[in-house]
Amino acid sequence: MKLTIAMPKGRIFEEAVELLRAAGYQLPPEFDDSRKLIIDVPEENMRFILAKPMDVATYVEHGVADLGIAGKDVMLEEERDVYEVLDLKISRCHLAVAGLPNAKAVSVAPKVATKYPNVASKYFREQGEQVEIIKLNGSIELAPLIGLAERIVDIVSTGRTLKENGLVELARIQDITSRLIVNPVSYRTKDQFIDDMVERLSAVIGES
Ligand code: PRP
Repeated sequence: MKLTIAMPKGRIFEEAVELLRAAGYQLPPEFDDSRKLIIDVPEENMRFILAKPMDVATYVEHGVADLGIAGKDVMLEEERDVYEVLDLKISRCHLAVAGLPNAKAVSVAPKVATKYPNVASKYFREQGEQVEIIKLNGSIELAPLIGLAERIVDIVSTGRTLKENGLVELARIQDITSRLIVNPVSYRTKDQFIDDMVERLSAVIGES
């Protein structure tokens, strides 16, 4: 039996590979410098697929990957039929509302730009504030600078992007870490393999 794992390309990737190696998985050097999208690791009976972070849960939900590593931000934005089995405690960051300092209040439905329209809608609804959500796919910090939106909802990690663009954090929405997610069918049919992985990862996950 082989296990297919969907890994998020980009920021989370390195930390996720480091965690798997710490848990004793022998991952080949291809993981460190390759453009390959599928990496087979026959020694571990594993196959890795490298997907865009926003797409990891899609592969897992459709069962073409048994497992995946996905940010909690993505899980909150798109409700998926997958199990979230472990907080990997890597790629710590938070979702926040940000904007220009001393921006003038707009009376009717101020605009909020974000990559997370569902998260942002829910947040402002809970706050009892009516806003207009504008969906962007990246470089969200540009929106208030160029006048597209008064505020943004985005991930803040080091805070550098906000600072270097003269923006300030206005509210903290939620802390975010990466999670191990599992396809519900795989969870039943490959339970031993998955339990073993959860156990090995749990043993090396930081408590910080
Ligand atoms: C993310 C996020 C912020 C930035 C925060 O963007 O959307 O822009 O990182 O990180 P910092 O607080 O450490 O500066 P990413 O680089 O993933 O690219 P994107 O703009 O395409 O979303």
